[in-house]
Amino acid sequence: TLYSALAVVAAYLLGSLSFAVIVSRLMGLADPRSYGSKNPGATNVLRSGSRAAAVVTLVLDAAKGWLPVALVRLYGPAWGLGEGTLALVALAAFAGHLWPVFFGFKGGKGVATALGVLLGVSGWLALATLATWLIIVAFFRWVSLASLVAAAFAPFFYLLVGGVAWEVHPGVGLAIALMAALLAWRHAPNIRRLIQGKEPRLGEKKKA
Ligand code: G3P
Repeated sequence: TLYSALAVVAAYLLGSLSFAVIVSRLMGLADPRSYGSKNPGATNVLRSGSRAAAVVTLVLDAAKGWLPVALVRLYGPAWGLGEGTLALVALAAFAGHLWPVFFGFKGGKGVATALGVLLGVSGWLALATLATWLIIVAFFRWVSLASLVAAAFAPFFYLLVGGVAWEVHPGVGLAIALMAALLAWRHAPNIRRLIQGKEPRLGEKKKA
């Protein structure tokens, strides 16, 4: 439907706001695409030395995933938008972050935005995935590893949390699995560095 298509386009445009770049520019910091992993994401912004900029980036990149999904979940039914649109809107916001139309289609890895999407789908789902992420970060202090492990668990958490609530939608489940797969694919350089023992730990600029 028309409303469905409009929601998907709006979600993609919102996802295309690369907050790592925007926040860094507004705060007078270097462009995150020029240092560290070169990734426009909160983890790399932290390597600039500004914890505030990293936190703001994390929150805004998550919010842009959460907002469109939450809006469709809350108000979609009144406009005839169901779970299919919800799944597409989730993917559109995530895709916007990976391939932002405003930044030459060169975006980030999707960790914060995926977490926001999960929060829009279900608070318990986001909590379980975030807890997984936090446990791995606490033990290993590699954000990339934590992101990969949490993403691998997310589709199963969806089935678990959705199953308990009798609310599993195949389209939404597929969207979450696809996000996890894309997120892992975007972490290919991190996976290589992890294997080589060259991946910097949380907040480190380079491996010592
Ligand atoms: O935010 C993405 C994170 O998992 C890895 O980021 O900058 O270390 O490649 P980075």
